[in-house]
Amino acid sequence: MSTTPSPIAAEQKTAEDFLPLLGTDYIEFYVGNAKQAAHYYKTAFGFQSVAYAGPETGVMDRASYVVRQEKITLVLTSSLHPEGEIAQHVNKHGDGVKILALKVNDATDAWKQTTQRGGRSYLEPKVLKDDQGEVILSGIHTYGETIHIFVERNNYKGAFMPGYRVWKSDYNPAPTGLLHVDHCVGNVGWNQMNPWVKFYEDVMGFKNILSFDDNDISTEYSALMSKVMSNGNGYVKFPINEPAEGKKKSQVEEYLDFYHGEGVQHIAVATKDIVKTVTELKSRGIEFLKVPGTYYDTILDRVGKIDEDLAPLRELGILIDRDDEGYLLQLFSKPVQDRPTLFYEIIQRKGAKSFGKGNFKALFEALEREQELRGNL
Ligand code: FE2
Repeated sequence: MSTTPSPIAAEQKTAEDFLPLLGTDYIEFYVGNAKQAAHYYKTAFGFQSVAYAGPETGVMDRASYVVRQEKITLVLTSSLHPEGEIAQHVNKHGDGVKILALKVNDATDAWKQTTQRGGRSYLEPKVLKDDQGEVILSGIHTYGETIHIFVERNNYKGAFMPGYRVWKSDYNPAPTGLLHVDHCVGNVGWNQMNPWVKFYEDVMGFKNILSFDDNDISTEYSALMSKVMSNGNGYVKFPINEPAEGKKKSQVEEYLDFYHGEGVQHIAVATKDIVKTVTELKSRGIEFLKVPGTYYDTILDRVGKIDEDLAPLRELGILIDRDDEGYLLQLFSKPVQDRPTLFYEIIQRKGAKSFGKGNFKALFEALEREQELRGNL
């Protein structure tokens, strides 16, 4: 018996997985003004125009813009009327993530497997067809008002899915080197982390691969707890945070107060060259959290030798951490809307599979400075 996992073992593992996922298919946001949000993601992050749905395509209640960069597909959707799910979502939560869509080979089976294990149905399997083929969708509820849609698109050749038309634009800012979704983090309420961990274990077959308690994630003032959930092949990772007691208000609590419920806190997107990507994003107006310059005075003692020059990392405020398998470089944006809710993480992994535990303290102190400016600490 060999102890080295073979490709066959990996395949068998997927075969035993009752919910085999091929990765993140798309992330859909409900926003106040999808036309302007799409412009922001193109201009600031370098996403490309892909598809559009709205009255011109026979969709009378909403407008949706699909933008893409490498394997990351975002859908920005606005309601055209004051009533209905989209308008109510935006009214309550502000701009935020509604759908974390997951790519599957069989959306009907994904729905059956998850609903028979206790998942609450959002969408029964539904076939959408046009002259480019067919897409099958199904969906279940997760934390807050967030939804997982299962997308089966093996028999579809079109730009996005039926109901959308190709969106060709004369305005095409260059990409910024964003490659794929690394992980998406959910913030849940007090004592709700473990119930949602159990949901991902029982309903979706995920495993808890890492846990952080309030001793790992606390500063002098505030604290949170987090458990990282991963699907069988590791393509989809959902860390779940809950607030913890501290002298002052947890950043997760601030999120819950302003999102008015549980929801997606941050989306981490991978790059192969974080210095280049962050330089580009900054030049386009994306604002990042800043750690004190002293962070860099001792960083190499903590993380050891790295391939990159330290000077540009210090200049851009990029954080570094190491685990048993390698190191990672990461940086967190400020919230991308007026409410202190959703933000982005830019991450470059150089072997490390962890989440930057060594940076938590410096990072959360930087977050607290922002919370204090908002009067929410
Ligand atoms: Fe993260």
